[in-house]
Amino acid sequence: MSGRPNSPSLETLLAQADHYVDPATGAVVPAIQPATTFARDANYELPGDYIYGRYGSPTIDHVENVLAKLERAHGALVFASGMAAFAAVIETIDDGARIVAPRIMYHGGLAWLRRVSQRRNIELVLFDQTRQGALGEAVEKAPTALVWIESPVNPTWDVIDIAEAVRISRANGALIAVDSTVAPPVTTRPLELGADLVFHSATKYLNGHSDVGGGVLAARQDGPLWEEIIQVRGLLGSILPPFEAWLLLRGLRTLSVRFDKACANAMRIARHFEDHPKIERVLYPGLESHPGHEMAKRQMTGGFGGMASLLIKGGNEDAKRVAGRVRLWMPATSLGGVESLIEHRAAVEGPDSEVPGNLLRLSVGIENAEELIDDLEQALA
Ligand SMILES: Cc1ncc(COP(=O)(O)O)c(C=O)c1O
Repeated sequence: MSGRPNSPSLETLLAQADHYVDPATGAVVPAIQPATTFARDANYELPGDYIYGRYGSPTIDHVENVLAKLERAHGALVFASGMAAFAAVIETIDDGARIVAPRIMYHGGLAWLRRVSQRRNIELVLFDQTRQGALGEAVEKAPTALVWIESPVNPTWDVIDIAEAVRISRANGALIAVDSTVAPPVTTRPLELGADLVFHSATKYLNGHSDVGGGVLAARQDGPLWEEIIQVRGLLGSILPPFEAWLLLRGLRTLSVRFDKACANAMRIARHFEDHPKIERVLYPGLESHPGHEMAKRQMTGGFGGMASLLIKGGNEDAKRVAGRVRLWMPATSLGGVESLIEHRAAVEGPDSEVPGNLLRLSVGIENAEELIDDLEQALA
């Protein structure tokens, strides 16, 4: 269409799902294409780009093109879960190689890394993400195949300097991948900071409605790594199914407004509880008291996000009691949906968890902030 900007803002790109208009009908919403196979013509040629649903199909392509534009990526791939996307990256790493990751990161990812380190003789080195210089020391010690980082780190929200991690990884010949689930592309774009891969659990902010499980990988450039990831997904069949891809596309259309509201609510809640007599500490990168605040200001350019944690005065049982007494917040795992969730993280992660027992993780949604505050107040009282 004439008069359209060549590269619209992320808000415009999202709201219009890349200015979608169906060429045959003018529909402003795409139809779902559920076919698992595509017929050949009289010359036994395929009429389009598709052969078999496990390798890709039109609905998948649409959401992947939007995601690639959002991340300023060479390409994006959608998977049936975040963990399926994570496993596809790890599958490309040779047996016996070395992987460096933060000590606190999404616990399912860490469990997968521990498994491959045992089964495939991969050396797993965990660095202390709260200590400056720890990543550099870990990477410089021995040749490293992959540096996997997450920022902000779930559930303490330590902020890792992505540009610095890129510099260290590049200088030592390691690949660098960033789990940016908690900081969607409307606030952080790791590929623009030089990362090789960006990862999302699309189950969270990208979809935003707690009704799709999915994962995303996007690559800064084409090359053997990206080709291998495409091959792994195609052969394993870990692609996102078409209906879920369509729901993800619908969820993406409101990402920027959902994220803005979640950021505003989280900031109000964090400020309210910062000096509260029943709270030991509020962990939220938007607070000046957070050790990662200055870095977050540079790296999270569209807001500090909707994730915060409360360290309750007392211990494990006190924190669990608060989570059990909320009436408006939902005591459930996951994050990034429109509804606010509260979780006693140590109980979910189990006995190996490094997460403090008095930590309650908040996934702040888009409800009325005062009502969310009042509910936490009554639960703490
Ligand atoms: C930061 C982060 N990364 C990865 C994952 C895994 O994603 P999924 O549950 O979609 O497999 C999660 C899930 O909670 C997460 O919070």
